[in-house]
Amino acid sequence: MSRPRLAVLGSGRGSNFVALQTAILEHRLDAEIVFVASDLPDAAILTRAAEFGLPHLTLPPSPFKTKLSPEGELALVAYLQQHEVEWVVLAGYMRVVKPPLLDAFPNRIVNIHPSLLPAFKGLRAWEQALAAGVTETGCTVHYVNAEIDGGAIIAQERVPVLTGDNSETLHARIQEAEHRLYPAALERLFTSGIQA
Ligand code: GAR
Repeated sequence: MSRPRLAVLGSGRGSNFVALQTAILEHRLDAEIVFVASDLPDAAILTRAAEFGLPHLTLPPSPFKTKLSPEGELALVAYLQQHEVEWVVLAGYMRVVKPPLLDAFPNRIVNIHPSLLPAFKGLRAWEQALAAGVTETGCTVHYVNAEIDGGAIIAQERVPVLTGDNSETLHARIQEAEHRLYPAALERLFTSGIQA
């Protein structure tokens, strides 16, 4: 069987992308990243992709802060199809995915979120956890659908909130868990063929 062909979309540092590509190179994840794309031209994820020698590109600029323009998302869909991408893997991608992409890749878009969903949907989930005073949070790999952070859950890992934690220390501990969880969850998903 040929290896699943992935495109990774991200807006930030790209540490989850690095965890995925490292897992691929270490044969812990049997897949291929076809290209990395970012909505932000100066996002570090693009530099990380270049360091791995992977194709990378900036998505068309959008007049909207929270989403691509409909034309921009259609252009992304065309590019994904042209490159025979099978799975769209969101890794710190901070735009809301809209129908052009959702409809073109049903049950084929996955995301990692820094909380134990359904708790703390939305932005800066680790700060929401701190503000709520919970003793445990975590991260979730889930399918992406029209409801923000509301798609079926694929895998989760728990992370304790420790006395004295601040935004940086808690997010760093959640990210360590993310870097374990995302490659392992995708490997299980691709080998089991389970789809929501
Ligand atoms: C990660 O913690 C990820 O869970 C979060 O952004 C960070 C990206 O880090 N995503 C969300 O909050 C999505 N709602 P990275 O660029 O180093 O992978």
